[in-house]
Amino acid sequence: MPTAKAPQSVGTTPAPQLTDTGPQTAAGKVLWHFTMSLDGFVAGPGHAMDWMTGFSFRPGLVEEYAATTGAVLGGRDGFDAFPDAGGVYGGAWQGPVFVLTHHPDDAPPTPGVTFLDCDVTEAVRIGLAAAGGKNLEVLSPTVGRQLLERELIDEIDLHIVPVLLGDGIRLFDNPGGTPVRLRLLNGEDHTAAVNVRCRPTGT
Ligand SMILES: NC(=O)c1ccc[n+]([C@@H]2O[C@H](COP(=O)([O-])OP(=O)(O)OC[C@H]3O[C@@H](n4cnc5c(N)ncnc54)[C@H](OP(=O)(O)O)[C@@H]3O)[C@@H](O)[C@H]2O)c1
Repeated sequence: MPTAKAPQSVGTTPAPQLTDTGPQTAAGKVLWHFTMSLDGFVAGPGHAMDWMTGFSFRPGLVEEYAATTGAVLGGRDGFDAFPDAGGVYGGAWQGPVFVLTHHPDDAPPTPGVTFLDCDVTEAVRIGLAAAGGKNLEVLSPTVGRQLLERELIDEIDLHIVPVLLGDGIRLFDNPGGTPVRLRLLNGEDHTAAVNVRCRPTGT
C-alpha cells in the first residue's frame, strides 16, 4: 500500500505501456473467452447478464470473434439459462454448439445444439473437429476449469469491464486449489501487472 509521499511510479525506468491484445485469429485454438467484471465474475447471481450493457469494446470486436469462431462448447446450466443457440454474439455467429450435460435425455431438442455426455477431452476433440480449423470457444467457467486442469486451454481471452458484481459465477472458482500461473500475451513483458484505475460512478 503506497504512502501519501510515495512516488507515482516505482523504479528508475517508466513502466512500458500495456498494449491491447491483437485481433483474435482463427487458428484452431481452444479459447476460454469471456467478458468479465473487474472482480472476476462472468455472470451475476442466477446467471444474470444484465450487467454487461453500457460498455464500449474495441471497434469490430464482435465481427472479429464471429469470423474466428468455428464452434462453441458450453455447459448445461448456461444453456438452460439461455437456450437460444442462435444468440451467440447477438446472432452475428452461427455454427455448431456443443453442450455438456450428465442428463442429455431431458434436454430439449434444439437446432444447432448437440448435447454431449462424455469426458471433456472428448468434447474438445469433437468441438475442434466441428470448428474446421477455426477456434473452439469454451463459454463455461465450469467446463473451462476442467479443461485447464487437463492443459487443454490454449488461451484465456478476457474483456474486463469496469464493474464490480460481488456475487455470481466466477471465471475460476477452485477452492482449495493451487494458483495457476499464466503468461500474459499483451505486449513484450509476459509477467507484467495490469494497472487499472477507476472511480465509482454513483449508479
Ligand atoms: N460473461 C460472458 O462473456 C459469458 C459468456 C458465456 C457464458 N456466460 C455465463 O456463464 C455461465 C455458465 O455457468 P457455469 O459454468 O456455472 O455453468 P455451465 O458450465 O453452463 O453448466 C454447468 C453444468 O454443465 C454440465 N457439465 C459440466 N461439465 C460436465 C462434464 N464434464 N460432463 C457432463 N456435464 C457437464 C453439468 O450439468 P448437469 O450435471 O446438469 O448435466 C454442470 O452442472 C452462464 O451464466 C452464462 O450466462 C458468460
